[in-house]
Amino acid sequence: MAVDTSVDFTGIHFENPFMLSSAPPTESESNIMRAFDAGWGGVVTKTIGLHPVVNVYGAKAKFMRTSADTAQVSMKKRDNAALHSSWNWELISDKPIDWWVPRIERIKAAHPTKVLIASIMAGSGNDKELGHWQTLAKACQEAGADGLELNFSCPHMDRKDMGSNIGKDSVLCSTVTEAVKEVSTVPVWCKLTPATADIVVEAGACFTGGADAIVSSNTFPSLPLIDPETLDFEINVDGYVSSGGLGGPAILPMALAKMAQLTNAFPDKSFSGIGGISDMSQALSYFLLGCGTVQVCTAAMLDHAIGPNVIKRLNEQYKEFLEKHEATDGWHSLEDFRGLRRNRVVLQSKIRRPSTSDYQGGYEPVEGYAAPAEAETHLGAH
Ligand SMILES: Cc1cc2nc3c(=O)[nH]c(=O)nc-3n(C[C@H](O)[C@H](O)[C@H](O)COP(=O)(O)O)c2cc1C
Repeated sequence: MAVDTSVDFTGIHFENPFMLSSAPPTESESNIMRAFDAGWGGVVTKTIGLHPVVNVYGAKAKFMRTSADTAQVSMKKRDNAALHSSWNWELISDKPIDWWVPRIERIKAAHPTKVLIASIMAGSGNDKELGHWQTLAKACQEAGADGLELNFSCPHMDRKDMGSNIGKDSVLCSTVTEAVKEVSTVPVWCKLTPATADIVVEAGACFTGGADAIVSSNTFPSLPLIDPETLDFEINVDGYVSSGGLGGPAILPMALAKMAQLTNAFPDKSFSGIGGISDMSQALSYFLLGCGTVQVCTAAMLDHAIGPNVIKRLNEQYKEFLEKHEATDGWHSLEDFRGLRRNRVVLQSKIRRPSTSDYQGGYEPVEGYAAPAEAETHLGAH
């Protein structure tokens, strides 16, 4: 039996599980067409709103690098430096829904077998604004979008009822999801912010509202560094900076921790993983934790704006991985190994110590009684 690199995720068929996430690589028709030609299985459009937005003056995103010879993390370009992260304070698409609709139609007509998910965002403060979510959802699905991704995660919105401020409020998460589900005819994914105490709470609220999948992570709230020479932030306008979002290699372990929390809490639900992916080794960690698709931004931005080499490598390495494991383990597709390491993420107290009886779970031993761990060990021994 030949290996099968395709996946079915929330009822949508993908040629491969690799997507471009909602960001500059998917901000235009030409980028998305090029991305599909290059081999990406799907894209999530740059987040679409009802009204145009205006970005800050100057650069909207930059990349931080570090190196073996100096520990410096800096946006300054220099030789022998390795990518540390991306930092951005870019808002959603500066093109409104009317601009996007004919383009979604043309992209789907040209690439009917590729998956286009429309990322959408509106306010959530009152019924009129919930209606905006419905207007956006209907316009995108009527134009041919295969699914919707609700942006509950943009880290630089001042409004308390938008972006990651929705993702920080479980009531808003379920209310907005429910409003979109009322009118949607295609699957609805919710992209959550990683900037909450327990992402399982907000994911649960989205599922209560009817979400078909959770997407994680968007960028982590962060600041650029201050240049030791100029004493100014490395990216600023008139000396000022606001909180922005960190992506790329630096967030990979943190995004994986969020994903492990999610997939362990909801083992039967669907998850799309994002954060620090540039080749199969990172994508594999997300698959083994239970993700059914993965998405890429920073690595694609740095590779001809849409990642032709990144997707070539991902597709090749994925096929090689499947072929190797078909021979050794009889695996044919993602479903044969998805989630295989999910239950290896456990409580600290479940990790073996040199001597179990010494471990008190962080509590002082109670005089006169065996510690719970010790009592268990002795029971087990008998
Ligand atoms: C410049 C830039 C703009 C972005 N714009 C959006 C956006 O409009 N909507 C969204 O959901 N995420 C947006 N993101 C977040 C990415 O989709 C992705 O979640 C994040 O960068 C982490 O993935 P990475 O480590 O592969 O970069 C943006 C990221 C960057 C760097």
